Amino acid sequence: MAQTTQPTGSTEPLPGNLPKGFRGAEAGWPELHRIPHPPRRLPLVGDVIGANVRTPVQDSMAIGRALGPVFRRKAFGKEIVFVWGARLAAELADEARFAKHVGLGVANLRPVAGDGLFTAYNHEPNWQLAHDILAPGFSREAMAGYHPLMLAVAGQLTDRWDGAAAAGRAVDVPGDMTKLTLETIARTGFGHDFGSFERSRPHPFVTAMVGTLTHAQRRNVLPPALAPLLLRRSERRNAADMAYLNRTVDEVVATRRAADASGAPGDLLDRMLDVAHPDTGERLSAENIRRQVITFLVAGHETTSGALSFALHYLAARPEVCARARAEAEQVWGRTEAPAYEQVAKLRYVRRVLDESLRLWPTAPAFAREALHDTVLDGTHPMRRGAWALVLTMLLHRDEEAWGDRPEAFDPDRFTPAAVRARPPHVFKPFGTGARACIGRQFALHEATLVLGLLLRRYDLVPEADFRLRVAERLTLMPEGLRLRLVRRAG
Ligand code: HEM
Repeated sequence: MAQTTQPTGSTEPLPGNLPKGFRGAEAGWPELHRIPHPPRRLPLVGDVIGANVRTPVQDSMAIGRALGPVFRRKAFGKEIVFVWGARLAAELADEARFAKHVGLGVANLRPVAGDGLFTAYNHEPNWQLAHDILAPGFSREAMAGYHPLMLAVAGQLTDRWDGAAAAGRAVDVPGDMTKLTLETIARTGFGHDFGSFERSRPHPFVTAMVGTLTHAQRRNVLPPALAPLLLRRSERRNAADMAYLNRTVDEVVATRRAADASGAPGDLLDRMLDVAHPDTGERLSAENIRRQVITFLVAGHETTSGALSFALHYLAARPEVCARARAEAEQVWGRTEAPAYEQVAKLRYVRRVLDESLRLWPTAPAFAREALHDTVLDGTHPMRRGAWALVLTMLLHRDEEAWGDRPEAFDPDRFTPAAVRARPPHVFKPFGTGARACIGRQFALHEATLVLGLLLRRYDLVPEADFRLRVAERLTLMPEGLRLRLVRRAG
């Protein structure tokens, strides 16, 4: 469920009705000169020496380590302030002073996702309207309704993996996790079957989505003056990708509209089409529904597939962690083919493995926060209303002040209830923060815990001997080229 600071049902827009478009740090941070930047800054182009357009987040992580908990980077006239220190990130989580900022990569998705829930500006009325209509779609009751469909999709994965195990073939983990999570959100949310498991290649929806995300990331990092030229071919392909996404979604909606509405299952699409706001009676427009369907199909699978892939990497690489997680699944679930909804949250250790994977590799690796009023960050850095900073979750999750002196070490026991209580709040933020935090958090955690439990009971996971973790970025993170061999377990 979304962590909301406003009562569900409120129609007050969130504050922050500032103009859109990129706002450079120069305008918002009057004492910007006091924030460190990389040493070899070049006139005109900025901090581009050593920058890799394919890995901007990992680059920023290396720079942040050298420069400290607040730093800035400039590329081609765009200056951005990054924050990762635990104390500063906690300040930015204060909803009385800061709110989500829609900028950079998120804003680049506006052409396709518009004022859908993820990309809406805080002041756009459709954010609150859609939030209030859709939040009940993630209630406990709704989740329990999705559970059998999640199991059915997991069954398709294990059918495929049984075949690979029998043939001694390694599986493509990110590819198969993407199939799994796309089918799961498509079927539970929209009653749609992409048939991903019957295909040898990714569904064209996935190809178009990856194209759009990659394009959005490139637009972040290229010089604005040259971007139209450098991205001319990419722009054309992006237009085709967006048209494909829109067509697919229009078909999904048309199919549902044509179906007999009576006795409908009450999934997300039903909510979008049929449910009026409980206070105002207002409904989502056809155009907004299109935006929401794309938003949920993309946001609902891309990050979860990464989270599952990283968790499987660590389970395969750490036999002692794997054995403990498996023992828990076997003990709590026994041999039942279909663990019940309530049984999933009982896999406490498996959940810790997932949390620890999301700590080291938060698959949505950053989020932006803007000042609601003139303020001073950390008592040191004045910010004007509308000034914003990017919280680098990946470094926040490795800040020694919050996580101890071995933050790089993978240790699920960091998430025992006692260890969590001992840490300050706001230091673990894989799902963002405040009113605009992830609405699908429980959905993702339920799906991922269920699938990990099922896979652990069924297979020994064998890493490839020469595998070294490298992380691919396309706004989200994914372990590149992760393949595992599977040995079917007895029972
Ligand atoms: C492990 C999986 C997931 C991760 C790491 C994740 C991460 C995030 C983060 C960090 C945000 C806030 C972004 C910001 O502040 O700019 C967010 C928002 C959002 N997420 Fe997720 N997410 C996950 C799964 C899901 C799922 C399964 C769904 C849908 C079924 C979903 C739908 C959304 C939506 C609609 C928003 C925008 C919420 C709003 O602004 O009101 N996410 N997510």
